[in-house]
Amino acid sequence: MRLVSLAQFLTFTLLVFSAGHILPGVAQGEGKERKVWARAGSSAVLPCHLSPRKMWKSSKQLLDKTSVLWKRHGGSAHQETHMVLEVGYSGLQKTALPMRPRVSVQDSALRNGNFSLRINPVRSEDAGLYEAQVAHNKEVQTCWVELGVITVTLRSPHPVVENEPLLLSCNSSHRASLVETRWFHNGRLVHTSGTFCSLHGALSILRPAMSDAGCWSCQLRYSDNEVISATYNLQILGFDGPKNPVVYAAAGSAVNLPCTLSYLPSAFGISVVTAHWSRLAWGHLQDQSILQNSSSRSFPHRLPVVDLSDAGQYRCAVSVGSKTISRDVTLAVVTVTPSIQGPVSEGSHLLLICSLTHLRGHERFQWRHLSSAPTHSKLTVATDRNLEGHRSKMGPTLEIPQVSQKDTGTWECSVYGPEGRLGGVEYGLQITGAQVSSPPTIFSGQVTFGLTLTLFLLLMVCILALALQKRARSPAFPALEGMIAVTVPRKKEMEENQKEKIQQTEC
Ligand SMILES: *[C@@H]1O[C@H](CO)[C@@H](O)[C@H](O)[C@H]1NC(C)=O
Ligand SMILES: *[C@@H]1O[C@H](CO)[C@@H](O)[C@H](O)[C@H]1NC(C)=O
Ligand SMILES: *[C@@H]1O[C@H](CO)[C@@H](O)[C@H](O)[C@H]1NC(C)=O
Repeated sequence: MRLVSLAQFLTFTLLVFSAGHILPGVAQGEGKERKVWARAGSSAVLPCHLSPRKMWKSSKQLLDKTSVLWKRHGGSAHQETHMVLEVGYSGLQKTALPMRPRVSVQDSALRNGNFSLRINPVRSEDAGLYEAQVAHNKEVQTCWVELGVITVTLRSPHPVVENEPLLLSCNSSHRASLVETRWFHNGRLVHTSGTFCSLHGALSILRPAMSDAGCWSCQLRYSDNEVISATYNLQILGFDGPKNPVVYAAAGSAVNLPCTLSYLPSAFGISVVTAHWSRLAWGHLQDQSILQNSSSRSFPHRLPVVDLSDAGQYRCAVSVGSKTISRDVTLAVVTVTPSIQGPVSEGSHLLLICSLTHLRGHERFQWRHLSSAPTHSKLTVATDRNLEGHRSKMGPTLEIPQVSQKDTGTWECSVYGPEGRLGGVEYGLQITGAQVSSPPTIFSGQVTFGLTLTLFLLLMVCILALALQKRARSPAFPALEGMIAVTVPRKKEMEENQKEKIQQTEC
């Protein structure tokens, strides 16, 4: 969170100094005029150093035989020459009233020979010609410095909010006629048309957006080829994040709809901030909640349990001072609908359909079987490979042709957009009829077969007994004996084969 004071908010930076006058470091030339550019509100240093040659010649006497007097010649407000600051032999500093709290020279000036005048903050009326007289050993050295002031002015309702027109203008104390003004936003030249208009060099932004915040520079070109530029850090009070955010929530979960300002309103000197949440339903706004907190920039609307009917559009309107800014937030609800309502029995054909209330068309769905254990530690991604048995693909619908015990547990449907995972929903699959598991099925089959075989053998024994009885009375069918003798061992052989098969199945 950035705490930006109003003073910082109005921070400008002077970039380019007057061409032909850039003399970095020390100005030794007596009587030679230097020009220094400063923007109103910043600090300026008017350089004046005692030449090293002189200091070397008489360094021992420098302390007690030196004094400096800064004077100003003319200027917009004061036409006559007047004293600005004086440092006497004793080191005593005297400053004249109009600039008293804003001007200074280094305390160590008499020792190190740096008599530069510092003005902080500079005002537009400070522009003018300055002269320093450094008296040393009955010699007088003079420094001439011309101070040029560049002013960047912002005309806008306070605070600067989204969609409220604003006007940026630049002027300078340079006397030549202005030929051209160019504007740069974050280092890029701005073509004045449409959203940005230029009016006599001023830049107007009719509907400022959050993207218009940042570093603006003006570049002034004069008829004498002087080029001056200054920058302005434009801060717009708006909302953090995307313009029309969509929040994805699983049905049954809790959700916070975001409403976060780009800056703490107190940084703009605003103490009363109120956020009104409403819902856009059937063409009108329904009040939801009112939040008030002057020490926060975040005003979320909380829904403890999201329902399918909560999906839709919400509006957060924040009153900052006399202005109201608003942002629409869409709540999209992710749900899972099973094809079977109520308990799912083993072996049934199940479809789990994942759906999203607000589709934008680029969404992808992915199903994952989290784990049958409640710890959710083991994750199984339902890829094409391990879903072979389910013959399901990546998509909103998960198909389980035959529900089995290994399908129990939590299934997660995740929704992905081009920007990444948007949200997800979990579905807990519980299966009924778990006592009828696969191995006992085979076992009961074995029992049935054995029972049938026993009954068959009993029947055969009965027939045999009957035949023997009949033979004892009248031996009419001699072939029957042979038939029985052949049939019975064959059945026994089959039984053995079957038992082997069963054992194989059981392993
Ligand atoms: C001279 O003093 C000014 C402030 O009065 C300071 O900004 C500047 O850096 C000093 N110059 C040198 C070379 O120390
Ligand atoms: C520049 O404009 C500001 C604001 O309009 C004004 O106060 C200042 O005097 C102007 N400066 C010059 C040098 O014209
Ligand atoms: C206001 O916001 C601050 C910072 O987020 C928080 O610490 C404080 O509890 C909030 N006050 C109220 C009444 O919600």
